[in-house]
Amino acid sequence: MINVVDDILFPEGRPKLKEDPIILKTTREIETLREANRIVANILQKLGEVVTPGITTGELDKIACAMIRNAGAKPAFKGYRMSNRRPYPACICSSVNEQVVHGIPGSRVLREGDIVGVDVGVVFKGFVGDAARTYPVGSISEEAKRLLTATEESLYKGIEQARIGNRLQQISAAVQKHVESHGFAVVRDFVGHGVGRKMHEPPQIPNYTGVGGNPRLEVGMTLALEPMVNQGSWRVKLLDDEWTAVTADGKLSAHFEHSIAITEDGPYILSML
Ligand code: MF3
Ligand code: CO
Repeated sequence: MINVVDDILFPEGRPKLKEDPIILKTTREIETLREANRIVANILQKLGEVVTPGITTGELDKIACAMIRNAGAKPAFKGYRMSNRRPYPACICSSVNEQVVHGIPGSRVLREGDIVGVDVGVVFKGFVGDAARTYPVGSISEEAKRLLTATEESLYKGIEQARIGNRLQQISAAVQKHVESHGFAVVRDFVGHGVGRKMHEPPQIPNYTGVGGNPRLEVGMTLALEPMVNQGSWRVKLLDDEWTAVTADGKLSAHFEHSIAITEDGPYILSML
């Protein structure tokens, strides 16, 4: 039995009382992060085009692995270790319907009416690109559409707060407020994160307020914001494959992620086309 709070909320181990310092990036480093994230954005766009009823999640992974290699990059997720779990086996995460995050691609066939969260990570010139989107498969229910829209909107509400003078939890608060105003729930057991030479850097970025640190946002911070939103309860559980997180109540979940930089001119979305 896995202790969800320790094992998932703190994948790198429980944070020390004082979190490690946030690694600020130079303009040059931010431009390299942009290059890494542009590769990710291209792959996400391509996968969005091929997501149709009948395709398998394994086929999506194959396309992504090939595009990563062709771009001269490396998959950031393959071989990644979280706590004492087995190394992650694929280039992407593909999380279908009640799967929240970290679904492992394979022989599963996508069906009309499904939703699929696709998360892509690459390493390029020593920097990590990390972003995710959730796609409808064919035509989906009105309720599923509402979930996708509210989740993506909540990401942009969070990004809007990612500016100098604000504090970290203003991002969390904006995401949470938007999600809950639509009657959905933010997942508590996973958080966004700083991103740079490593995929997971400080700070941890919950999509709800009242936990962890609340540092002032500064120029040069590079952050992966990633709201995970459940249709019903926020509670999740882990499948026996040690990776796939699913909603405890079996209802739908959606996930959108952008990597951003905080600049003098406001938030700079690195993982756009
Ligand atoms: N975007 C996710 C994250 O930030 C993807 C990680 S998948 C893993 O944690 F396998 F690499 F862990
Ligand atoms: Co991430």
